[in-house]
Amino acid sequence: VPKLEEKQVLSNQNQPRASYKVAILGAAGGIGQPLGLLIKMSPLVSALHLYDITNVKVVAADLSHCNTPTQVLDFTGPSELANCLKGADVVVIPAGIPRKPGVTFDDLFDINAGIVKTLVEAVADNCPDAFILIISNPLNSTVPIAAEVLKQQGVYNPKKLFGVTTLDVVRANTFVAQKKQLKLIDVDVPVIGGHAGITILPLLSKTRPVVPFRDEEVEELTVRIQNAGTEVVEAKAGAGSATLSMAYAAARFVESSLRALDGDGDVYECTFVQSELTELPFFASRVKLGRKGVEAFISSDLEGLTNYELKALEALKPELKASIEKGVAFVHKTT
Ligand code: NAI
Repeated sequence: VPKLEEKQVLSNQNQPRASYKVAILGAAGGIGQPLGLLIKMSPLVSALHLYDITNVKVVAADLSHCNTPTQVLDFTGPSELANCLKGADVVVIPAGIPRKPGVTFDDLFDINAGIVKTLVEAVADNCPDAFILIISNPLNSTVPIAAEVLKQQGVYNPKKLFGVTTLDVVRANTFVAQKKQLKLIDVDVPVIGGHAGITILPLLSKTRPVVPFRDEEVEELTVRIQNAGTEVVEAKAGAGSATLSMAYAAARFVESSLRALDGDGDVYECTFVQSELTELPFFASRVKLGRKGVEAFISSDLEGLTNYELKALEALKPELKASIEKGVAFVHKTT
């Protein structure tokens, strides 16, 4: 039986340490605000830095009244960006414009590519060792843009640059649980590829718990998961894209990142990262996260795929490749 002091040490070790600093860039937006709220509730976060080009003081004033220990600070405009980023362990980037009905992910490129490039340059200068979580679309291009910027600055660590595709997994889990009347908490569907239309490939055959799908169900669920973003865009009818479910998904990825940084040895997430699982330089798959970022790729998810999944995988590659190349070319063109 441990003595009292030993018991205290043991129980302290089990307590999460509220010691991490998280920065949100684009914190006053539709995603940024609820994401700030969810991160403010995390026991692992000691400081939450909110950056935007406008309106962020209001958000910080509001959030700072929640009686959780996390300290909230606001930073407005490029002159305050460096201070926002110094010492950050995790930087989340939802800055940029969202989709409207009739607007494709690629249409966002012209504006969001430049925003992501500028913000990642500042990350490279001020906290190159942080986990960088990109949300801004088109993700299939903005993650390669971030990688090229970091390479140019000589600080690229492929294990710590993530495209947040968690919303695809969240949606897949929800839709599959509804369709198959499963307990939602138990359902886990890996989603691979990229984060736009047909590049989103849910691996329904790898669903846990194991559950059989008829061919029509596979087709219907796959298409629904691929177009789920458009469902929300159309429901909002011009007022933007998914914000609340996206904030929920991003908060899950942030929490997973913090648990990994904190030494939890059991953290797995799907994410769009530099990868050797296929011939494409970036690819979303399930990875194991650790203190240093990506620790392992779960390649077994890609083994024993159904014919439907194999065909869909081949079909997504040209589009994903083109989006990656567009991102890389953008950085080289503008420098
Ligand atoms: P929003 O327009 O509501 O918010 C964007 C925020 O970014 C605004 O507050 C704006 O002031 C800020 N911003 C613009 N330029 C900036 C700059 N240079 N530096 C810092 N902040 C800047 O848009 P929302 O709905 O929050 O979406 C943000 C992005 O997330 C969009 O690109 C959207 O397509 C993407 N998204 C990604 C998803 C994913 O699964 N990865 C899902 C849903 C949206």
